[in-house]
Amino acid sequence: MPSKHERTRAIEVDLVVEALARRHGYDFSDYAKASLRRRVAALAVTLGCPTISDLLPRLLHDEAILPTVLSTLSVPVTEMFRDPLVFKAIREHILPVLATYPRLNIWQAGSATGEEAYSLAIMLEEAGLLHKVQIYATDINDAAMAKAEEGILPADQIAKYEDAYRKAGGTRTLAQYFSLGYGFAKLSASLKDHISFAHHNLVSDGVFCEVNMVICRNVLIYFDKSLQDHVLGLFEASLSRGGFLCLGSRENLGGSAAAHHFTPLDRELRLFKKSGEAS
Ligand SMILES: C[S@@+](CC[C@H](N)C(=O)[O-])C[C@H]1O[C@@H](n2cnc3c(N)ncnc32)[C@H](O)[C@@H]1O
Repeated sequence: MPSKHERTRAIEVDLVVEALARRHGYDFSDYAKASLRRRVAALAVTLGCPTISDLLPRLLHDEAILPTVLSTLSVPVTEMFRDPLVFKAIREHILPVLATYPRLNIWQAGSATGEEAYSLAIMLEEAGLLHKVQIYATDINDAAMAKAEEGILPADQIAKYEDAYRKAGGTRTLAQYFSLGYGFAKLSASLKDHISFAHHNLVSDGVFCEVNMVICRNVLIYFDKSLQDHVLGLFEASLSRGGFLCLGSRENLGGSAAAHHFTPLDRELRLFKKSGEAS
């Protein structure tokens, strides 16, 4: 039985979610409750609000806080070649199949600051495929998208990512894809030109094009089951027959309605193939 304090907290969080949806059009009502509550509490601290209820007037009247709200609630944390074995498997088992297509669209959903999209572009370049690829990297967090679009990282980060790059099957150096100067590293334009960063909300936006691969990692974990099912349906509808779906290590197709459209390529690494031959 939840305590009085917990019940009050739950009401406050519900009111914040409603204010955000009705005032700003961002619907967090189907996000996983426990982690959402923690993040709403963190938001109150960040904005100097003594209680969660004190967030309400700010949400209703202060337009300027929206980027802070989205950044706190949406967890835009990422890395290059995160879980390198997943990238290695994509390199070894998925790219050879994609290589047989004349043109390729890839949807990287929940891009955060872009490091996952950069990693994909590098692997596609090394596989000799980048020239025929368009990567659509999408997120609801516009501040993160703007950073992704810049393609600039602290130079010491690149050195830290070299190990993951090699574990992902890279045989060159990561640094060669960046121009270095003044402590920063800028992603080569020849890679970034193949990535379109765009605002897309998995809750409320629909299919925007047919894609050969969807990579959406560490996003569904923040959603409850009904929203996960909705988003998996969106991915299924976006994928061409024979297309590939890559989820995060703690995410799965579970008992979703979309599940029967997919066969596992690697269960452990959460790689799936949409049934049917490519058209
Ligand atoms: C933890 S990051 C994952 C980044 C990257 N995919 C990775 O695994 O390193 C989760 C991202 O999902 C995004 N996100 C959360 N809700 C979303 C939604 N409704 N639509 C699109 N993106 C969303 C967040 O803004 C955040 O950038």
